[in-house]
Amino acid sequence: MRINKYLSSCGVDSRRKCEKLIEEGRVRLNGKTVTAFAVDIKDGDTVEVDGHVVRIAAKRTYIMLHKPKGCVCTVHDDKGRKTVMDLVGGVRARLFPVGRLDYDTEGLLILTDDGELANKITHPKNAVAKTYSVRVEGEPTEAELKRLRAGVEYGGVKYGAARVSAVGAENGGTKLNVTIFEGKNHEIKNMIESLGRRVLFLKRVAIGELRLGGLNRGEWRYLKTDEIEYLRSL
Ligand code: URA
Repeated sequence: MRINKYLSSCGVDSRRKCEKLIEEGRVRLNGKTVTAFAVDIKDGDTVEVDGHVVRIAAKRTYIMLHKPKGCVCTVHDDKGRKTVMDLVGGVRARLFPVGRLDYDTEGLLILTDDGELANKITHPKNAVAKTYSVRVEGEPTEAELKRLRAGVEYGGVKYGAARVSAVGAENGGTKLNVTIFEGKNHEIKNMIESLGRRVLFLKRVAIGELRLGGLNRGEWRYLKTDEIEYLRSL
């Protein structure tokens, strides 16, 4: 198995982040620093990250968290802010968040120690649907919603076609359901900014067929077997 795949299978992080670790010279194979991705791991090899031996564990852990506002989607935060990891205390696996929600965004977040599955969910080629409940400033016109559906450009970045429907007026703004198929930074906020409007509230309610359902803010649960099977099938 290729070293990047091996590292993510060990639950170190997503495959792309593991490649970064290799580039940073933090990975050793049988005592020697690995400098290329095209290295195969065989039975009996010893792989270390930052001096710690990593191994593929037989059993994986999959969690769904209702991320509240006011925490970051990283394992450690250099600025000492609260992280999503603080909300899943007591779980012994080396979890990491799959993808990101902004500090002020809430909703469905998957945490796992399965780097391969994380890679599947986030890889752009799989175009996994992510659905958000969005409250925007004012009342977007049908022409504006059409622009979002076709794909927009903002700040020199292109955002692909989205599924968009208006739900109705809410708290001085308009509630929209928006489904996107990429995972670009601040994607929804930038799409809405491209209309000259602001996002007032943002919550992810689904990843593919996986739904947040009745989970309260800050609560988490283990994924069910059929949910894990579904994610594997992506
Ligand atoms: N789009 C955003 O702008 N922010 C998020 O947190 C998620 C999607």
